[in-house]
Amino acid sequence: MNNRPSRSIRLGFWVLVAAALLAACAPNPTAQLISPNMVAITEAGIVLIVKEVPKLAELTRDQVMADVPAEIVAAIEAGDIEEGMQISELQGCAGCHSLVEDEVLSGPSWYDIGNTAVGRVDGESPALYLYNSITSPNSFVVRRFDSGVMPDNFADTLSDEEIGHLMALLLSQVEN
Ligand code: HEC
Repeated sequence: MNNRPSRSIRLGFWVLVAAALLAACAPNPTAQLISPNMVAITEAGIVLIVKEVPKLAELTRDQVMADVPAEIVAAIEAGDIEEGMQISELQGCAGCHSLVEDEVLSGPSWYDIGNTAVGRVDGESPALYLYNSITSPNSFVVRRFDSGVMPDNFADTLSDEEIGHLMALLLSQVEN
């Protein structure tokens, strides 16, 4: 008996792999827009997923703001970077988040956070990611950091206006 898998079983396997890849690429149009995944299969059958993340400046306003509550979008658009800096000091954000590259306090640096936010969570627009990070910090925890360090009550203690100023500040932090 030949115990190698038959040609048709092997073919069936590759059809399944292809179907899985198509399914992974297709269903969420926002995710695709924000982070198109390029899939390559090497000769050895290893699947490489190359994530191409655009810069914030390459997105349209609607892509930046997708799925953010309308009142928050309005607050961001009326937001002021200087006010954002002041609120960041007053609320203690600045005590945990530096604006300097690679300067890690208790939390990750906000250097280039506008661009970072584009690719952090598949399917979340950059503004939605930042909004969720402020209002429910444990919904996604940045790699190499612990959950439960960032206060999780800013949704209750900050007004929409204050969140708008903070997000205007965060979205302004982009390097090329
Ligand atoms: C006591 C420290 C602390 C304070 C105060 C704090 N944070 Fe954080 N923050 C963290 C930590 C730790 C993380 C990473 C873990 C996580 O994702 O929850 C984080 C994550 C974030 C992220 C995601 C960063 C990234 O690289 O993806 C944003 C945005 C953020 N915080 C905004 C704020 C804002 C705005 C304030 C003030 C209103 C604030 N934080 C106050 C500790 C803090």
